Amino acid sequence: MSETATGSPNLADKAARVALMSGVAPEPGVAKPDPILSVDNIVRRFGGITAVDVGHLEVQRGIITALIGPNGAGKTTFFNLVTGFDRPSSGRAASWTFDGRSLSRTSASRVARAGMVRTFQLTKALNRMTVLDNMLLGAPGQTGERLLTSWLKPTWASQEREIRDKALSLLERFKLLEKRDDFAGSLSGGQRKLLEMARALMTDPTMIMLDEPMAGVNPALTQSLLGHIESLRDDGMTVLFVEHDMHVVRHISDWVVVMAEGKVVAEGTAESVMSQEAVIDAYLGAHHDTDLGDDSLLEDENFAAIEAEADQESESRA
Ligand SMILES: Nc1ncnc2c1ncn2[C@@H]1O[C@H](COP(=O)(O)OP(=O)(O)OP(=O)(O)O)[C@@H](O)[C@H]1O
Ligand SMILES: [Mg+2]
Repeated sequence: MSETATGSPNLADKAARVALMSGVAPEPGVAKPDPILSVDNIVRRFGGITAVDVGHLEVQRGIITALIGPNGAGKTTFFNLVTGFDRPSSGRAASWTFDGRSLSRTSASRVARAGMVRTFQLTKALNRMTVLDNMLLGAPGQTGERLLTSWLKPTWASQEREIRDKALSLLERFKLLEKRDDFAGSLSGGQRKLLEMARALMTDPTMIMLDEPMAGVNPALTQSLLGHIESLRDDGMTVLFVEHDMHVVRHISDWVVVMAEGKVVAEGTAESVMSQEAVIDAYLGAHHDTDLGDDSLLEDENFAAIEAEADQESESRA
């Protein structure tokens, strides 16, 4: 197993990730070797509905964790709560820490500054703004924004240049550079998802939470999105993503957390959770049409074929 200079496992290496998680029991709420996010007693009710009721959940640092569960399981509400976009109903009992610091009563912008960013199930790109301006909006509180004082102008200008350069290099990485001056509203569904991911990276997060990044994206772009998600992990980021397609989940997740009716009902590797009764019950109970069976449609070699096709397509477009 490869290790980094500090002696910690190199989690860009699959064998290291498998070894790291192999000692973790496939049980809801199980402790992780090195959790970056740890949540306790988070409850959110909407009228008579308990949308989220999570007793304890830890997210392991440096790997890709998939959060799955039938429609209405509470996945998006859970994202909203831990990222400060919503508040728990059990105000006092709820607590969660990110990277060792409490974030329980922290605003969304402070959560982002602490290093945890998220994207939205329905993309929040501002349609009547250019792609580049959408990126610049993603930058964390700039000096120019806070202090409109002219004596600070030199610092402000150099900071603005730095931010712009960063936005352009991210757009290049996500193959959106040529679109920089187009309105975000003119992008395809998949390109908007890429833009959202790129924008989230403007704050240099340590953890990124993606709510259905692949929904409504064509198969060719799905492959490229998956590649981007894996590269975030390989760069050392922690990824938590919501996904309904079990083939995608199997393909890129190092760990899977299953929610149903607001609770974490199972955890484990993709193989292990698919065979757990609680998971089968959750999906059957919800009359969900997710295929939990084994299907080679998106197995590795087919992924490679889709990837090659996507490359060809983007080359012919360029
Ligand atoms: N703002 C709200 N007001 C009232 N009820 C809400 C609100 N947001 C979510 N809910 C309810 O809370 C429950 C959980 O919803 P949530 O959107 O978190 O589920 P989800 O797992 O993300 O589902 P999906 O897979 O369809 O995106 C659902 O019953 C939903 O109707
Ligand atoms: Mg949702």
